Amino acid sequence: MVKYLHGYNSHEQQRLIDQAGFLAPLIYKDVDFSGCKKLIEVGSGVGAQTAVLLGLFPELEITSVDFSETQLAKAIENLREYADRVILVCQDAHELLLDQVFDSAFVCWTLEHVTDPLRVLKRMRAHLSPGAKIHITEVFNSTFYCYPDSPAMEHYYKVYNQQQIGFGGNPDVGSQLGNLLFQSGFKDIKLTHGGFHLDQSQPEQLKGFIEFWKILMKSGAPGMLEAGMISQSEIEAMENDLDRILADENAVFFYQFVQAKATV
Ligand SMILES: C[S@@+](CC[C@H](N)C(=O)[O-])C[C@H]1O[C@@H](n2cnc3c(N)ncnc32)[C@H](O)[C@@H]1O
Repeated sequence: MVKYLHGYNSHEQQRLIDQAGFLAPLIYKDVDFSGCKKLIEVGSGVGAQTAVLLGLFPELEITSVDFSETQLAKAIENLREYADRVILVCQDAHELLLDQVFDSAFVCWTLEHVTDPLRVLKRMRAHLSPGAKIHITEVFNSTFYCYPDSPAMEHYYKVYNQQQIGFGGNPDVGSQLGNLLFQSGFKDIKLTHGGFHLDQSQPEQLKGFIEFWKILMKSGAPGMLEAGMISQSEIEAMENDLDRILADENAVFFYQFVQAKATV
């Protein structure tokens, strides 16, 4: 059994690409690497964020690190047009060891999966030059709220988060970003929140984010089914709850992730 919430199948690989595109307007609003030349990205997956960064900051060369050879193989395909500006490295972020120094760093949706995020940030900081900047985006799953009451969705969400904790991750790691950056020696730490607070006054956005959420929730389903934590009918009930929210005249759909920036 793969001890990783989302698994590594081709649906998941495509989901990461779609997710990066869908959320880019939210994630990259305040991400600024202008003036930076060498960036290290940890937990780069299939290179979905790497491609966005390379497009936004044409001066950047990126070293992308992931411990999954499957994801890195897909990243080679996805980043073909940027081949001369990317180096892909297969390493566990807890043991990060490269013979290079970087002036910038990026992490997105990865600290939630690692067993020791403080160690990962310390290893990253050891590879950064004085004045280097870091941007991090992470989940804060306890912020999720929806109306009307959706017991099947709530049950599924509880199991989904338990699965992540069982794998050694932390579905609320975003809440700890300030402490983690401080304890790993970064300074000028600033936290902001992004996400959505949607209702029927924005029906198209509500529909788009509920669809996005369904796909995100289902990314955990194969592992949860395999572990016997959830049944097929509970997955369907979760989807039905999300459809009911969308149809409700008093629908509310709310979630906040956390973004942190800091310097060395
Ligand atoms: C949810 S994906 C996010 C990928 C990418 N940052 C994005 O936003 O599209 C998390 C990635 O972190 C990687 N990962 C998890 N734990 C890791 C570790 N200890 N060292 C290196 N990579 C890790 C996984 O293999 C996966 O590709």
